[in-house]
Amino acid sequence: MKKQHSQMDGTNKRSVIFLMGFMGSGKSTIGPILANTIGYNFVDLDLLIEQREHRKIGDIFKQEGEKKFREMERALLREIALTPRTVISLGGGTITDQTTLDLVKESGVLIYLKAESAYIYKRLRTKSDRPLLRTLEGQLMDADQLQGRIEELLTQRKNYYEQAHIIIHTDDKKVGNTIDELVKRLRHYIEE
Ligand code: S3P
Repeated sequence: MKKQHSQMDGTNKRSVIFLMGFMGSGKSTIGPILANTIGYNFVDLDLLIEQREHRKIGDIFKQEGEKKFREMERALLREIALTPRTVISLGGGTITDQTTLDLVKESGVLIYLKAESAYIYKRLRTKSDRPLLRTLEGQLMDADQLQGRIEELLTQRKNYYEQAHIIIHTDDKKVGNTIDELVKRLRHYIEE
């Protein structure tokens, strides 16, 4: 990891930025604003998969399962990971595949939008479009189940998320402040 950081100092700047973070951590809000602020293009990996597949993520999970979905994410990232001057927003679980995580770490700057579980719960409790936040029978979870599931997935994913080059706390921070902080910290890593 240290080596990866030092390889990116000064002379070896990147021009692709990956945003990762748990569902509800703000990737889809922050991504387009960040891209616009620094003059990069924006791509949302989930939306791209839905467009290519002509089906919703929920249907892909139902019809093919999570493993196949992760393969689709990986294949698509192989195609687009080196598109210059692009901010790519990943799905919350894209990085649970170490091959995919290595691919993005090698291709660009990886940012983790870190949010606490209580904040994530608040953002997700009214949402119904996340297949991993449903019961085995496909029902919406009650409050206790949802809190437990968020904690469980955050714990499982912690070691992957923390491999990011830049970790930034979002929680109740204003979007503008997150963008300012990101732009400042990114100067060290990216081509202007
Ligand atoms: C997932 C997160 C979702 C989507 C899919 C699986 C996950 O994306 O990729 O439902 O495993 O955390 P968002 O993080 O954009 O909600």
